[in-house]
Amino acid sequence: MPASIKVLFVCLGNICRSPLAEGIFSNLVSQAGRDADFVIDSCGTGSWHAGSPPHHDSVQVARAHNISIEHQRARQINLKDLNDFDVIIAMDRSNLDDLLALAPDAPVKLLREFDPLPDSPDVPDPYYGGPDGFQEVFDIVYRCCESLLEEL
Ligand code: 4NP
Repeated sequence: MPASIKVLFVCLGNICRSPLAEGIFSNLVSQAGRDADFVIDSCGTGSWHAGSPPHHDSVQVARAHNISIEHQRARQINLKDLNDFDVIIAMDRSNLDDLLALAPDAPVKLLREFDPLPDSPDVPDPYYGGPDGFQEVFDIVYRCCESLLEEL
């Protein structure tokens, strides 16, 4: 049996964007009947929210699309992750830079490299905005995860 592909989604706090990416990608993988093909996780470059559940507005926008993410708990990336995961997907260029500073040879890509409707390299950080920002993030992450899954 071929080994599964280990995919890690990374943002800053691991409470807004990357939990949504983990939930959306997991949902798409399940719908495709490919659960056995993947190990999927998310984390943050920062430690401030370690142990916390996802942001309320991420939970709400996911739930509105029948995706459950409330069981997730934030954690900070560690050096083992950078060795263990086959594909590491950063939400924005700042996350990418932080990851490459930790491990210059890590297999890191920007999520929006997979965007069929590219207009920015970054998934915007919704933390300081209102709920509309979380819907925008959901839409961007969803379409990027669909393309990512097609590639993998
Ligand atoms: P995330 O959003 O990186 O998408 O989880 C943020 C969460 C928390 C903070 C910044 C961004 N913060 O400054 O605490």
